[in-house]
Amino acid sequence: MQRNLAGSVKPNLSLSALMERDLLEQRDRAQRQDQVALFTTPNYAEAEQALIMLLQVHNLDENLDQHTRLQTVFENAVAVALTIAYSNEYQSDVAHRFLHRILYRINRLKFFWYDDLNHYTNERSLYMQTIRNQIEAAWQAWELSQLDVASLKRADVVETLRDWSAADLDPALSETGRYFQDDMTLAGYRKMLEIASLDGLVEASQLSLTLGGVANEIHSVMTRLLVEEYGAGKLARKHSTYFATMLSDLGMSTEPEAYFDAVPWEVLATINHSFLLSERKRDYLRYAGGLLHTEISVPAGFSPYHAAAERLGLSADAMSYWTLHIKVDKLHGRWMLDEVALPLVERYPDDAWELLLGYAQQKFMGDRACEAVARAAKLADGEG
Ligand SMILES: [Fe+2]
Ligand SMILES: [Fe+2]
Repeated sequence: MQRNLAGSVKPNLSLSALMERDLLEQRDRAQRQDQVALFTTPNYAEAEQALIMLLQVHNLDENLDQHTRLQTVFENAVAVALTIAYSNEYQSDVAHRFLHRILYRINRLKFFWYDDLNHYTNERSLYMQTIRNQIEAAWQAWELSQLDVASLKRADVVETLRDWSAADLDPALSETGRYFQDDMTLAGYRKMLEIASLDGLVEASQLSLTLGGVANEIHSVMTRLLVEEYGAGKLARKHSTYFATMLSDLGMSTEPEAYFDAVPWEVLATINHSFLLSERKRDYLRYAGGLLHTEISVPAGFSPYHAAAERLGLSADAMSYWTLHIKVDKLHGRWMLDEVALPLVERYPDDAWELLLGYAQQKFMGDRACEAVARAAKLADGEG
């Protein structure tokens, strides 16, 4: 993460004053490190287990005081992880991963999984909402600090949307894309599928959360998009079914969330981000900007996976999810630009820059997730 350089500019002080100030800063930093060191190793697995047990408590909000040990274990780990994950000095993949697994476990209750109905008993728990809000507030502030929001506010929205969309529709192949395309082994490919399956098997579900409301042309296009993603009501044509076919063709589990443990925090972050924006109508423009980026960038993003599947000699079924998306998302991208994003600029001229924020953030987080997938796939290459 970029440090705040403005904060390190020193006023006009004498040499001794500067040295004294540097020493004090060093001491403060050391003290903070000591403080973190005292609580660097909470048992995140135990804390996550505590959350799972709390989620199963009948009427949690009313009965929380009977589970104070679970609550303490869980909340202490969250507090430490928040400090570690989102401070400049002590970022830790383990803390990021714990926080995003917690968020995901709370967010996933917004979907119906056709499992035991008792699993949803705390879907609207105020305690869970408080924990979710606490994590999201720190996480989102950290994410925003990595983007130049001020320049987005000054940009010409229509021109920028057109420029970005054209560039992301047909970008040069990145180093990571080249690895997926030319070097990834079957073991790496399977690892990539494991990770992608968490979202792939419930693909476009967050979009469904945005559709309730008044009818107009924008709403109709968003609905049409969902209907396409959902196979027009035919299970065999639902996009997630193509993903399941791809998994079963390789003898992998098609059970949703079967590979949850394989998912890096960077990928969980994109899923949790989608839950957050799709749930908040105030962020409708950000959500639409993010979805525009997703649809526009998928054809180029999936092409290396498709090429890898061909190179590895997989069947047409085993790559049909890629083939389908490389084709249809060109169309979906056009819908999102011409029939959703640009009409939203007209309807909300003062807030239109939020489309750019949504787009830029989706790109930033998506690229970060892609790098994490490549790292995991390379590790599997080495083991496979
Ligand atoms: Fe899709
Ligand atoms: Fe799509």
